[in-house]
Amino acid sequence: MNDPNGPIYWQGKYHMFYQYNPNGAFWGDMHWGHAVSEDMVHWKHLPMALAPTPGGPDKDGVFSGCAVIDNGVPTVIYTGVNPETQCVATSGGDLTGWKKFAANPVIAAPPAGLEVTGFRDPCVWQEGDTWLMAVGSGFRGKGGAVLLYESKDLRHWSYLHPLVTGGMRTGASAKDPVDSGEMWECPDFFPLGGKHLLIISTERVVKYLLGRYEVRPFTAINMDNRDSQVVLIRRHFIADTMGGIDYGSYYAARSMTNTGERRILWGWVTEGRSAEAQRAAGWSGVMSLPRELKLLGAQVQICPAAEVESLRGKRLGSGDVAGDCLEIQAEIDPGNAPRAGLKLRVAPDRSEQTLVYYDRDLKLVCVDRSQSSTDASADRGMQSGPFLLGRGEPLRLRIFLDGSVVEIFANDRFCLTARVYPAGPRSTGVALHMDGGTAKMVSFEAWEMRPISADRLTS
Ligand code: FRU
Repeated sequence: MNDPNGPIYWQGKYHMFYQYNPNGAFWGDMHWGHAVSEDMVHWKHLPMALAPTPGGPDKDGVFSGCAVIDNGVPTVIYTGVNPETQCVATSGGDLTGWKKFAANPVIAAPPAGLEVTGFRDPCVWQEGDTWLMAVGSGFRGKGGAVLLYESKDLRHWSYLHPLVTGGMRTGASAKDPVDSGEMWECPDFFPLGGKHLLIISTERVVKYLLGRYEVRPFTAINMDNRDSQVVLIRRHFIADTMGGIDYGSYYAARSMTNTGERRILWGWVTEGRSAEAQRAAGWSGVMSLPRELKLLGAQVQICPAAEVESLRGKRLGSGDVAGDCLEIQAEIDPGNAPRAGLKLRVAPDRSEQTLVYYDRDLKLVCVDRSQSSTDASADRGMQSGPFLLGRGEPLRLRIFLDGSVVEIFANDRFCLTARVYPAGPRSTGVALHMDGGTAKMVSFEAWEMRPISADRLTS
């Protein structure tokens, strides 16, 4: 799998769609897979939701998109490719059995006159009787962009203007515009605590823009009849803050539209092993844990959804903590140590270990994977993201280990997902990490994490 698509809460159940290749553990021939859950933790697979239609606008792939409820009718809006167009499909009760709109595509091409780097991954929401659509796009040599459309019926769309355009580092232009930030994928736009958050995926990471979204009516002279005026609406998104949603192996995040007050975010946990190893394993890519987003002042908070705690099994004392399926909560006082955190997946002879720590001088949370695996084909690169501890503020790490997946939350405001592939079956130790000084463990709790099903795949 890759991107989560159209996560939606419907008739008391959470539905998840996702980019899926039925032919094997590699990217290609995109379909929409489908799973359902009552608690966002335990999932059941359902039949494939969408497949390419030979001769149709999605013949070469059903790319990413979203789901909305249109007057009681579950509706998905997604991208068909070659060329990139936006398409619609609807379903009845249990969200199995999707019927594609006969006149697809509903948007056949990017706005006339605009030379864009891409045109995909619609995000749709409703304002009164108007539907709005944000489409991922960008401009060569300038930067990524999100294009805004409106519609009364989800079938007929008019282009308004860019919702927001981004800049880029000079000279960053790359062959693939996603690598340089000239193309923004998977926009997700929604209100959060009195402001609006726009999430985008570009340069292989997920970022956010936080700001004000203004919907303002204004009157204009009607040039066709100069005695009358027309009332139009202008929509602006003025971002004042930018940050990272996750600095690691995590991409194409998308949130749920209708979970009431809660805003739940899902992401694709990407791989850190070779294409051959992925094919041999028979699977590639995994869904992140559900994360809840909140706004505290100007600070975007990201925490694991409380439901995840239902997987807590045996509680482990601080002396005997070991495992590769664990939830860990540690509060660490870095003291005078310039680098302090935890060692994970430690082998008894230390031949393998993964270091997760705060670097006071560099103001980063880092994951040092240089010794994570003795298998040379696994990605052993350093991963890190900007983070600043306040004066006297302890490092509060919440870490979920699940086989090769390490989801790291720091102080409710930083996330980094790492993939590690220790070769040794006994590389399961956990310990305090300090470097250059003395740090102190203030508190430590850990639980074994129960599998969500009996046939859990491992590694
Ligand atoms: C992001 C992405 C999307 C696209 C999908 C195709 O990972 O490239 O832009 O719709 O994956 O699988």
